[in-house]
Formats: sequence, C-alpha cells, structure tokens
Amino acid sequence: MEHFLSSMPKAELHMHLEGSLEPELMFALANRNGIELPWDTVDQVRAAYDFGNLQDFLDIYYQGAGVLQTEQDFYDLTWAYLKQCETQNVIHTEPFFDPQTHTARGIDIGVQIRGITGALQHGREQLGISSRLILSFLRHLSEEEAFTTLEQALPYRDSFVAVGLDSSEAGHPPAKFQRVFEKALAEGFLTVAHAGEEGPPEYVYQALDLLRVSRIDHGVRAAEDPALIERLIAEQMPLTVCPLSNVRLRVFPSLDQHNILEMLARGVKVTVNSDDPAYFGGYIAENFVEMHRQLGLNRDQAVALSRNAFESAFVSDGEKAALI
Ligand code: HPA
Ligand code: ZN
Repeated sequence: MEHFLSSMPKAELHMHLEGSLEPELMFALANRNGIELPWDTVDQVRAAYDFGNLQDFLDIYYQGAGVLQTEQDFYDLTWAYLKQCETQNVIHTEPFFDPQTHTARGIDIGVQIRGITGALQHGREQLGISSRLILSFLRHLSEEEAFTTLEQALPYRDSFVAVGLDSSEAGHPPAKFQRVFEKALAEGFLTVAHAGEEGPPEYVYQALDLLRVSRIDHGVRAAEDPALIERLIAEQMPLTVCPLSNVRLRVFPSLDQHNILEMLARGVKVTVNSDDPAYFGGYIAENFVEMHRQLGLNRDQAVALSRNAFESAFVSDGEKAALI
C-alpha cells in the first residue's frame, strides 16, 4: 500500500515553495550569500520546528526564507522541490510563492519569478512535470501593499495563473482584500485563498463570495458549519487539505482525528497536499502514507483524492484529460 501511495500519479495544488526549503539547502544558500543563521547545525534547525500554532511556524518560515537572494537561489529552491516531485510521481503541481517576503528585503519580483519559472520550465522539459504558478499575498500586510505587489507582478503576467492569500489568518479576513482580488479577476487571473485553517467558517464564506475563489486552501474548519459543508458539496468547491501541516500547526490534535476522510465520504471535493514539506515532516507521499497508517486511508479513497486534485487543477480540459 505504501508503495502504491508513493507511486500513484499525483497532482499537488497547495504548497509554498519557500516551505520546501530544507535545512541543508538553507545552510548552503546562507554560506553562498554570506548570511548568518541563528542556528549552527541542521539538527538545531529541525529541533526548532516545534510549533504551537500557525504564527510560531510563520516566524521561522520567514526567517529561513531570508537566505533566498538571487535568481539562482530561487531556481535551486524550485528545482529541489521538483526533484522530490519526480521521486513521488507528482506529475502536475501548482506551487505558491510569496513575493512580499522577498521584496521586503529588496529582492526584485523579477528575480524571484525568473528563478522560479526557469526551474518550472526545466521541470516540464526534463522531468515531464507540468505546473502552474500562484502568486500569494501576505494577509498580515495591508491592502495597499497587496495592490503594489500585483502592479509589480503584471509585467510577468504570463508566469502565473492565479493569486492567493496566505500568512496569519486570524484577524485578517478575506474581506480585507476584496478590491485587490477584484482587480486580479479583472486582469484575468483565477483566485484562491487560505480560509478555515485557523480562521472561522465565516472566512470561507468570504473567500467564496467576496474573493470569488476557484478553490479553498485548507477549509477544514468549514466542517463546523453544516450549511457551509452543504454548499461546498453542491458547488463541488475543491478544498486543498494539508493533513501533516494541520497536525504540526495543531489545527487537529492528531492525524487520527483529522476530518478529511469524513468530508470525502460526504462528497466534499477534498485533495491532499504538503503545504510546507520541509517544515511539516514530509512531501505529498508522506501525507498519503501517514493518512494510511493513522487514519486508515484505503486504496479507493487515495485514488478518489488524487482524482479530485487532477480535476481541480488550473489547466484546460484537454490537458486534464492528458494528465488523468
Ligand atoms: N498557512 C498560512 N500561511 C502559510 C502557510 C499556511 O499553512 N504556509 C505558508 N504560509
Ligand atoms: Zn498553505
């Protein structure tokens, strides 16, 4: 079964490239760029990955991302992730990047996008992995800063297909970014948003109604609102669920209490994803394997989850048919 889970064809729809920065690469880039890290060894870094909540994680995640400076760094980060995809038979991926994490440090958005898209292009040519990039706004920052970021990104509009919303959820409702998302939609981008990870079901409604999202990232707290679950089922709205992330960030006390298989059984279009694989104990295959070990995931459920992901991908029907 574990071999089946790691070898079945998969699509990943929710992962942050910055969250795939393994400690080994973090040290290599810190050395290359002459940056001091607050840790001396890879083991010390991993020991720091004991998070009480989302904010605990984000503080370390933004610190780690500080080693990314050059186009080559963004290329290397993305390429390392794609090589993991290759070993786990991820044949399509739609990663996020957080431009504001880097523009705040003076790294031009073009440097970021050229590095990332260069690796994605090589991933298509050399590894046969198709991809679509998603630009994610940091919701703890202002609406104005999100508008500025969108303006900075427009010269590279062919490099990404959608905009998203991540970072600290509580206190930063989707409504705060309604106008930015209206502009992104008018420019022809699709939209997604993290909602219902730590935030309440109300934030999921806002993502649907105000941001007009095509997928909800996480969405697990929607289960607290039966009417919302009914709506997600009726609309076949995809949820990009991240089981190991949810346990590491204490959204669920343990994986055996996760609600993903209940939602699947009810007809919610749930998918499995790694979120920040370098920080949460594994890539997409480890998420499937741990669901098997701790949640009793069976073969039919795994296939259904994987099919949901291909069906929810931001590709044309023709490309979808070729992938499935
Ligand atoms: N939630 C919100 N923001 C994030 C996450 C997450 O799980 N990972 C990276 N940025
Ligand atoms: Zn995420």
